[in-house]
Amino acid sequence: MNTLESEDKKTAEAFASSWNNLPGGSVYTVDQFEDWFAPITKADVAGKTVLELGCGNGSLLCHIPAWQPAYIEGVDLGDSVLSCEKNMAQTGFKNFKITQFDLTKFAGSGYDLVYCIGVLHHLKKPIDGFESVLRNTKPGGRFHCWVYAKEGNTVVIYIVDPIRKIASKLPWWFTKYLIATPIVVPYFIYAKIISTSKMFKKFPLYEYSCWIAKRGFLFFRHVAFDQLVTPQTVYISKQTIQEWLDKYPEIDKSSAYIIFRNGNSWKFGGKKK
Ligand SMILES: C[S@@+](CC[C@H](N)C(=O)[O-])C[C@H]1O[C@@H](n2cnc3c(N)ncnc32)[C@H](O)[C@@H]1O
Repeated sequence: MNTLESEDKKTAEAFASSWNNLPGGSVYTVDQFEDWFAPITKADVAGKTVLELGCGNGSLLCHIPAWQPAYIEGVDLGDSVLSCEKNMAQTGFKNFKITQFDLTKFAGSGYDLVYCIGVLHHLKKPIDGFESVLRNTKPGGRFHCWVYAKEGNTVVIYIVDPIRKIASKLPWWFTKYLIATPIVVPYFIYAKIISTSKMFKKFPLYEYSCWIAKRGFLFFRHVAFDQLVTPQTVYISKQTIQEWLDKYPEIDKSSAYIIFRNGNSWKFGGKKK
């Protein structure tokens, strides 16, 4: 059997068309990286083994060497592992391994920190991804995830998601240049305007717009393309995350957290007993 056979294969191929057609290096700033990881900090990584499940082109992974880990591993089902390898090599950090594999089936040797950012909501079975996060975390280790929220995303769910269902069936370049690019222009202007004053705080996507407005047009376009290219997206409620955290006895319940981020996504994690 082909080891890359997976029900998420089309999704991973779609993302590879995004990740493998970008300039080298991370698409995220250091501030964005740190914000995605908080409450995880350098202290949780220094001298530790780290695994990213669904590493894309390594845009998060290649910030990790700055936190002085002992070892870094990344897993992705898509051909984005090629750009991930290159981006990691450019960091100068030597002790890393990138593997092309279905993360839901991945069973490594156990890591001090396992994170899965922007991935679970694209899986056919998000719970299988979460189980892999837990399975790959060492006893006493930490896990950290980030997903699109059901809460705070009404505009995206009713406007962007129906477009995604069509756009994800088209050639990637058509979606990137002829759909994502024109669509993101009005949102770019909207975000730049509403992020200037708290007067707009009741407007849709206010908090998210304040976050993304710090970046330029190409980052907006990257995010829009990322949303439109994928055949599979679900929006996950706080209640579902709470159920996941409650369900597994190996999670140290006193360490578990769920944090609302930018008014439209959830960070969650904890420690494994
Ligand atoms: C939105 S990208 C996030 C990449 C990276 N974590 C980041 O935040 O920049 C989602 C990634 O998950 C990968 N992916 C989707 N399903 C997968 C699976 N079953 N196994 C491994 N990777 C998968 C895709 O190929 C894609 O690179």
